Amino acid sequence: MSPTNDLISILAIESSCDETACAIVQKSPDTSLVKVTSSITATSLAKHKATQGIVPEVAAREQLKYILPVIEDAIKEHKTLKLDAIAVTTGPGLVGSLLVGIETARALAVAWQLPVIPVNHVQAHPYANFVKQQADEQQEPDFPILSWVISGGHTDLYLMNSHQDIQKLGSTVDDAAGECFDKCARVLGFDYPGGPFIEKLAQECNNDFLTAFKGESVHLPRPLLHEKTFDMSFSGLKTAFLRAYTEKNKTVDAKDLKVLLAHELQEAIGDIMIKRTEQALKEFPTIRSIIVSGGVAANKRLKQKLEEKLLNTESYQHISLHFPPLSLCTDNAVMIGAYAAFHFDQKTSWDNVRLMLR
Ligand code: KG4
Ligand code: ZN
Repeated sequence: MSPTNDLISILAIESSCDETACAIVQKSPDTSLVKVTSSITATSLAKHKATQGIVPEVAAREQLKYILPVIEDAIKEHKTLKLDAIAVTTGPGLVGSLLVGIETARALAVAWQLPVIPVNHVQAHPYANFVKQQADEQQEPDFPILSWVISGGHTDLYLMNSHQDIQKLGSTVDDAAGECFDKCARVLGFDYPGGPFIEKLAQECNNDFLTAFKGESVHLPRPLLHEKTFDMSFSGLKTAFLRAYTEKNKTVDAKDLKVLLAHELQEAIGDIMIKRTEQALKEFPTIRSIIVSGGVAANKRLKQKLEEKLLNTESYQHISLHFPPLSLCTDNAVMIGAYAAFHFDQKTSWDNVRLMLR
């Protein structure tokens, strides 16, 4: 049964990497945000610390361990709810991990006689910004929207004219921004995911700190910044980071050097985002909102830099800026359900659902 004028309830599954997640989301036709009915996430992150990175085989086995308990937990208080579809991430991601979610979704679809909505993980990230929050007054993103997906695997910039008309403007030509954070953090001796460590270190760097190190300032490049394209590059940043760390290690105290470098790295990534954002706002002057999503959206300094730019520029005053709550920045099933709710017409039979690696 497909409700056209009614509330849509979707059970969503995400298992593309090291998170195993299930959520139930609901959307009524007259609202532009989805409501979260339940959301459960298990992570096998701790398991991957010992190997200093994710071993796909291990991640897939962890998915198998968590998938049914996570679904059981998400539905246990909603067993009488009439579901309208099952949404599942079909790619991109780790093959073994994805297959656990896909096969579970297909089995549930057969058992419950429901359609399946296959969801692309990267396209789903921005939908963390279309979720109703607890706050009384929540401003909704207005179209046209400039959408940043900035995670460990992707750094993409999109123009969303509507939920159906989404155009990619550019993306990284090499490493993703999150990957750059992770690799640089590894240089400093931190485990995956490195972004939060870099952010914490950088918070120790204030003006007094910078003044004290004037003669020893570190400068990292902002690659491709003068190119007129929307593409970005982060791998040179990582190389420069390693070089600066090795060179300055002889003259600057190790802890201070880590703080200086973490600060500069965060500023460089922020500057790249700001430059591409301004370029997009110039080329598409009708843009009314900016939404940011993906694990790196958890970084408070990046948010602050974008906020300051919008606030301090006369011609940007009408543009609203949206970041998801922290729990929806990193991988989760709510964003998968939210994407599916806005693309309900993409529902199909379980036997049409395939792994989609791109
Ligand atoms: O979206 P996500 O959970 O997984 C992918 O789809 O990649 O993003 C994970 C990425 C990692 O690279 C991690 O270091 C980064 O998000 N990240 C951060 C922060 N929190 C997570 N990067 C910078 N600052 C943070 N606070
Ligand atoms: Zn992700």
